[in-house]
Amino acid sequence: MKRLDGKCALITGAARGIGRAFAEAYLREGARVAIADIDIGRARETATALGAEAIAVEMDVTRQDSIEQAVTQAVDGMGRIDILVNNAALFTAAPLVEIDRTDYDRVFGVNVAGTLFTMQAVARHMIARGGGGKIINMASQAGRRGEPLVAVYCATKAAVISLTQSAGLNLIEHGINVNAIAPGVVDGEHWDGVDAFFAKYENKAPGQKKKEVGEAVPYGRMGTAEDLTGMAIFLAGPESDYIVAQCYNVDGGQWMS
Ligand SMILES: NC(=O)c1ccc[n+]([C@@H]2O[C@H](COP(=O)([O-])OP(=O)(O)OC[C@H]3O[C@@H](n4cnc5c(N)ncnc54)[C@H](O)[C@@H]3O)[C@@H](O)[C@H]2O)c1
Repeated sequence: MKRLDGKCALITGAARGIGRAFAEAYLREGARVAIADIDIGRARETATALGAEAIAVEMDVTRQDSIEQAVTQAVDGMGRIDILVNNAALFTAAPLVEIDRTDYDRVFGVNVAGTLFTMQAVARHMIARGGGGKIINMASQAGRRGEPLVAVYCATKAAVISLTQSAGLNLIEHGINVNAIAPGVVDGEHWDGVDAFFAKYENKAPGQKKKEVGEAVPYGRMGTAEDLTGMAIFLAGPESDYIVAQCYNVDGGQWMS
């Protein structure tokens, strides 16, 4: 018996990176998975690579019509949604005096509004279906404290932690557990983009920031997407039924709370 046998999961931003690793882990544990992403070409490639129990769903979490269509497609394709992972996000960085309002709206639109309204759409489905469910929001160590060049992204992730608390307290009466994971620094394409921001603003050579942050982790290296999958499986399965509105650090010892 696998830990997620018969369960159906919708994972946003699962075409690559951490979301893809979660999809692989859930499939290994017996679940069916909807790979939901704005990059539908890559989502299809990922779903094909992961096999018959994975389907690709086009989804832009900033658009209400797209959220609703994606939830409908996932339910049509898998039968229902038992597990939602709100994983899609954008990163941005700039000194405070250079923050651009359009960029702020773009990043808050994905990371905060996208998380809230995808939770809402899937919670409506779970409540109507009955039987509860699991919602996991991807926060970050960036949501635990500010950083000099990262005001907007840090604020979005603090908002994700807050939304997790309110949604968790609100939805547990329906048997829906809402919790969050706060990774530290996780190697992958996302961090290549982060590294490029720091190369620009801290005048570092490409790859230098990545090396420095890896060395600063108490565990001794950057995380991998695979390092997060144990927590993602735990929060999606029955062993976490009594856990409500929490945010877990999975970061090699970076943050203590
Ligand atoms: N990588 C890290 O170091 C790190 C650290 C802490 C937290 N996180 C969080 O973990 C999650 C996954 O990170 P990752 O490193 O895999 O990121 P990533 O950039 O590799 O993947 C993000 C995915 O989201 C998709 N996406 C972007 N905008 C979208 C939209 N509007 N609608 C739907 N999909 C959209 C992208 O196409 C991409 O496939 C994010 O929430 C991120 O903030 C990552």
